[in-house]
Amino acid sequence: MTAAADGTRLQKVLAEAGVGSRRASEELIAAGRVTVNDEVAILGRRVHADVDVINIDGIRVPTKPGLVYYLLNKPVRVVSTAHDPEGRPTVVDIVPSEPRVYPVGRLDWETEGLMLLTNDGSLTLRLTHPRFSVEKEYLAEVDGVPTRAALRVLREGVELDDGVTAPAKVQLAQGRDDSAALTIVIHEGRNRQVRRMCDAVGHPVRRLIRTRIGQLADRTLKPGEWRLLTSAEVRGLYAATGTEPDPLDAASPDSDAVAANEPGADEVSQ
Ligand code: URA
Repeated sequence: MTAAADGTRLQKVLAEAGVGSRRASEELIAAGRVTVNDEVAILGRRVHADVDVINIDGIRVPTKPGLVYYLLNKPVRVVSTAHDPEGRPTVVDIVPSEPRVYPVGRLDWETEGLMLLTNDGSLTLRLTHPRFSVEKEYLAEVDGVPTRAALRVLREGVELDDGVTAPAKVQLAQGRDDSAALTIVIHEGRNRQVRRMCDAVGHPVRRLIRTRIGQLADRTLKPGEWRLLTSAEVRGLYAATGTEPDPLDAASPDSDAVAANEPGADEVSQ
């Protein structure tokens, strides 16, 4: 029996991944929009969801059984690593313990807001790898009210000790006498980047909240609350990282678990 002759029908796998009904999935296949391991699929194709790489319009469909994706509103004073040697509470303690998931990127101890946790190593790698730059939006309450010149520096690039920052979208959302609220959109993931940018222009951060990751925002989640992502949201995150081939596809079968744990992913604070 050939690889394509056993396995599960592609439209069933697509429907179970939340792409749409089986009928809608068949239409996508018939329209030539679905590839399996980089080959355009035809109706009747069978796949192995745990190993085959299925894309629609070049965007990965996460079909591997057992993948989970949580969106958490991280409260302050919670560590965003999977384990803390000092025994402080971690984001992983807040979500269900099975299956084991890992935070995607980092937020500082004092930073609040949206964080993803997943056991999907491919998505983790994409979202944290500088090659696949995904926008992150922050609401920063800062000391003082930045001048136009300071806002321009924040937008155009701030000289930090690890180099000049890439252009950022920065808006003054609100200015009071002694403080201001800024919305800051960056796509780099340097350590404590927003705090260091604001420090550098003389406006230290009082409070920092991440409000968006790619297209993903949710004003209904209170600090400490989490929810599962919808499959459309997961696909949206894959789409936000573009259609480049996934670095993990060429790697070993265990590489998902490795990527979610690897130090490179852990070090990114974004
Ligand atoms: N920038 C920061 O300074 N801190 C964070 O937690 C995230 C981005």
